[in-house]
Formats: sequence, C-alpha cells, structure tokens
Amino acid sequence: MSSKASHDIGWIGLGRMGEAMAARLVKAGHGLSVWNRTASKADPLAQIGAEVVTDKAAMAHCATVFTMVSTTDDLKDILFGAGGVLSGNARPKRVVDMSSISDTGSAEIRKGLTDVGVAYLSAPVSGNAKVAKAGKLLVVASGPKAEYDAVQPLLAALGRAAMYVGEGELSRVWKIAHNTMFGVIIQSLCEITLMAEKAGIARHVFLESINQSVLGSMYTRYKTPALVNLDFTTTFTPKLLLKDMELGIGAAKQFGVVMPTASVTRDSIASLAHQYPGDIDFSVLLLELARSAGMKLEAENVKVGDGL
Ligand SMILES: NC(=O)c1ccc[n+]([C@@H]2O[C@H](COP(=O)([O-])OP(=O)(O)OC[C@H]3O[C@@H](n4cnc5c(N)ncnc54)[C@H](OP(=O)(O)O)[C@@H]3O)[C@@H](O)[C@H]2O)c1
Repeated sequence: MSSKASHDIGWIGLGRMGEAMAARLVKAGHGLSVWNRTASKADPLAQIGAEVVTDKAAMAHCATVFTMVSTTDDLKDILFGAGGVLSGNARPKRVVDMSSISDTGSAEIRKGLTDVGVAYLSAPVSGNAKVAKAGKLLVVASGPKAEYDAVQPLLAALGRAAMYVGEGELSRVWKIAHNTMFGVIIQSLCEITLMAEKAGIARHVFLESINQSVLGSMYTRYKTPALVNLDFTTTFTPKLLLKDMELGIGAAKQFGVVMPTASVTRDSIASLAHQYPGDIDFSVLLLELARSAGMKLEAENVKVGDGL
C-alpha cells in the first residue's frame, strides 16, 4: 500500500472488468499504480506486482490514468469530487475512460478535463471479464487522434484489437449501439430457446445448433453454459444492462431513429432489473421469460463449451 502513485500508468476501478483489464497490463510488463474504493478488491493486483495506492488524489501523478467504473456520476465523482483525482495541484497528462457511460455525460467530463489541461480519450470495450482475461476484449476509442496514438500500445495490450472511430464521444455512441444489440440478442435468444424447449428440443442441443449455424457468435457461445446449466454467476448485472438499454433509447430519440425492438427489450430488461436488483447475471432473463411462459426450468448439467 502506498499514499503515492509512482508509476506512469494509473488504474482506477477494480470491479469485475477493471480487475481483469488492469491485470493484463501488469502481466504485459507495465508498471501500474491502482486505486479502488473498496480496497480489498486491489489484493489480486498487488499479488501480481501492481502498486496499490490509498489516496485517489495521488493518482494525478500518473501521466495516464485509466478509469473503469459504473456510471457517469461515479466517474465525475472520482475525477472532480471531494478528494478526487483533480482535487490537488497535480494533473495527469490524460484520462482514458473505459466505462460504459452516456455521450452527453462523457462530453461534460471532456470539457471539465480539457478546461484544466488534461486530455481525454473515451475508450469503451466489448466483452465481459472472462473475455478480458482471455485477451479477447475489443477497445473502441474516440477523442484527439494524437492521444489515441500515444496510448494505442496499451489499449492493444488489453485485448485482441483497438480501433479509433473519430473525435469527441463517437465511441460512446458506438458502445450504446453495441449494447443495445447485446440486450436485443439475449432477449431473442432466451425467447427462441424457451419455444424450442417447450416443443421438446433440449436446451443444450438447441443452443449448440444455433452456435453451429450462421447465427452463432462469440456472444451466443459464451452465454450457452449459463443458459444450459442455469449458472447465473454474474458477468454483467440486469441493472447495468438496463442502464445501457436506457442509453440506447435515449440515443435513438437524440438522433431521430425509430428502434421498436430495442424499446420492447428495454421494458423487458426493466422488469428483470426490478425482479433481480442485485448481483446476478443478466442471462437470468431466461428464468423470468420461462415463468411468463408457465415453464419451470431445470439445469441440464451438460458440459458445453463457451467458445473462449
Ligand atoms: N461486466 C461486463 O460484462 C461489462 C462489459 C463491458 C463494459 N462494462 C461496463 O464497465 C463498467 C464497469 O463494469 P463492471 O462489470 O466491472 O462493474 P462492477 O464490477 O460493479 O465494478 C464497478 C467499479 O466501479 C467502482 N465504483 C462505482 N462507483 C464508484 C464511486 N462513486 N467511486 C469510486 N468507485 C466507484 C466500484 O468500486 P467498488 O469496488 O468500491 O464498488 C468498482 O471498482 C460499467 O460501466 C459497465 O457498464 C461491463
């Protein structure tokens, strides 16, 4: 534990995603100073050689500060709040935020940072913590191109690819679009799986056939074990998915695009988030939809691959 941050690279936010991502940088040989609100979550990083910092304001001494937290308000709090990264005299060169937040919130954060001479890159990701651990995360960034070029090797070390999509908050729009489809696909996948099961096709057989078909994807493959064996160990909560579906609906209104499928899915995920407000995987949607179809599901206890 240290009250100083002595490395050039800092990482704030060691939840499910942040821990897996920060560990990739350490394992790639980068010196890393880390801070997390719940200090115990930094233990796995300390064990592999990261410097655990006790004071988040000290993270301002790092040239590059990565952030991976829950919402726009959390990020504002960490940067601009009492005792936050910008509360002292020190300033990092840049902040690279990898959380999934709104484009408008991100634009406010960009203004707050650039006003005090700190550059900002928005860099959300595709993939869950397991995908991150397997080195298969996709990073999509926007902001000043020179800033992207400066951190591109770090972003590339986080996963299988890093892409630049343009200026400002375009990567936020990308992520909102991505997660809207993410919600719509799980909704549809659960619906058709239940229909097939009620007709008599075992879940593992049906899902494996979808995975082998033109419709199969990394996503359908890595959700298959959860759906077959009713293992709802959290990768992403209903509450976080609801946040993203709301962002999708907001963006549809902002840009004047009609998204009926996303709207129906948003309502379904809202009901799921009320039913399951805590720490459980969003694929528990299967149980909720089964209930409304009058079905009682059993775990099939079949070993199926997750494609990772
Ligand atoms: N899970 C996924 O599959 C996935 C995939 C892609 C993107 N994302 C996005 O990545 C972000 C993180 O997701 P996650 O699954 O890693 O969530 P998580 O496990 O709930 O972690 C959230 C992190 O944010 C920190 N945090 C939240 N509010 C804070 C505050 N006010 N001050 C300080 N720290 C705060 C938490 O600190 P504590 O440990 O103290 O609570 C924790 O480190 C979200 O924006 C999510 O939408 C998630």
